[in-house]
Amino acid sequence: MEKPTLPATKRKHGEDRGFVIPKKKRTEESAGSGGSADQPQATTESTDEITKVQTANQDGLATAVANHYNQLENTGVRDRIKSPIFYLRNFNNWVKSMLIGEFVHRLADESVTGHRPTVLDMGCGKGGDMLKWKKAEIRHLICVDIAETSVEQCRGRYRDMKQRNERERHPQPLFSAEFIAADCTRVRIQEQFRSPEMRVDLVSVQFALHYGFESLQQAERMLENVSDRLRPGGYFIATVPDGHAIMARLQRAGGRQFGNDLFKVRLREPERRPPALFGAQYDFFLEGVVDCPEFLVFLPLLEKLCKKYDMDLVYKKRFNEMFSTYKTTQDGKMLLNKMQALEAYPPQHGAELLAEEEEYNHARAAAEHERCVGTMSRAEWQACSLYMALAFKKAKPAR
Ligand SMILES: C[S@@+](CC[C@H](N)C(=O)[O-])C[C@H]1O[C@@H](n2cnc3c(N)ncnc32)[C@H](O)[C@@H]1O
Repeated sequence: MEKPTLPATKRKHGEDRGFVIPKKKRTEESAGSGGSADQPQATTESTDEITKVQTANQDGLATAVANHYNQLENTGVRDRIKSPIFYLRNFNNWVKSMLIGEFVHRLADESVTGHRPTVLDMGCGKGGDMLKWKKAEIRHLICVDIAETSVEQCRGRYRDMKQRNERERHPQPLFSAEFIAADCTRVRIQEQFRSPEMRVDLVSVQFALHYGFESLQQAERMLENVSDRLRPGGYFIATVPDGHAIMARLQRAGGRQFGNDLFKVRLREPERRPPALFGAQYDFFLEGVVDCPEFLVFLPLLEKLCKKYDMDLVYKKRFNEMFSTYKTTQDGKMLLNKMQALEAYPPQHGAELLAEEEEYNHARAAAEHERCVGTMSRAEWQACSLYMALAFKKAKPAR
């Protein structure tokens, strides 16, 4: 499995750029305009209140998951820089950017209407993908999450972005947005949409699908929510831990848990082999970010369930494959650097490595022929290589 090392890019005057933290503020790309009649109009009006849907029988682990994410602090850049998973988080964000970019482009290439896409972000969290949606020049965004506080923060992020956009010298129309706090595994979320009949072109479920695999009914409700308003020819994209990879690592570790200093996975019912298809619970701990029960997702089962809702698997890449696929593309290379997705090895300009030197043996070998490479520590890489990026396409109705 390829570990992420990439030669650092050179500045024009020949100095190594490395992967150091840039002082310049990230510039936001402007959204375009235009659209078609069946699409909601991009609006500059202020957003509605958050729609909150209480689930009568919110049993199982939903409350624990919602409480966990509600309590998570919205850390500033300064804290994130100090975090031992700084590059891992950035790398995961880079993967999401690549996935979103890939399918927004495919939609544009395949679109007959030519309108800017409408997106449903399920399990949107605090709006970590908001800038990506702006960059993708989407038309409308529906954000849904079970954690009410996160949805509030997500809306706040959107409002800030909108205000910044309006202060720009030549403001471009920003996508319109709506916000819903609901359990996507238990309620029909489309009933809460501003226009319940509206269709979306893209459904994005980033690092959240596995919470739906507590039971068959919940997984089905979640996927029904994904598919219900998805336009035929539209895409469902997701990033999710690979159940098979988790089981393989557990087997190798010879026990009920595996991990390292940064993350741990502990299976609840180790004696059960093979594990249950639904409700196969494990505790996932990721340094300072996640400490939460999750459920194994096995791709063949997910594929079968998606098929039931007319969605066919068209794309599957483990995160290491995402790296090899996009590291040399123009956007991929530029964003690896801009998003600080990789750490410079050896460290540049007096910086310190985030982990111990022996965590970078792979990078040392790669750096023999380069003055500096971009990489991640072994521990970070072990964590992110558990994940896969997926895309399903909604079937067009048979004529
Ligand atoms: C790891 S976070 C990912 C957040 C965001 N998608 C991102 O990539 O930054 C997982 C999110 O899924 C949400 N979630 C978990 N179970 C959910 C459910 N049943 N319905 C809706 N959202 C859920 C959590 O509240 C949390 O915000």
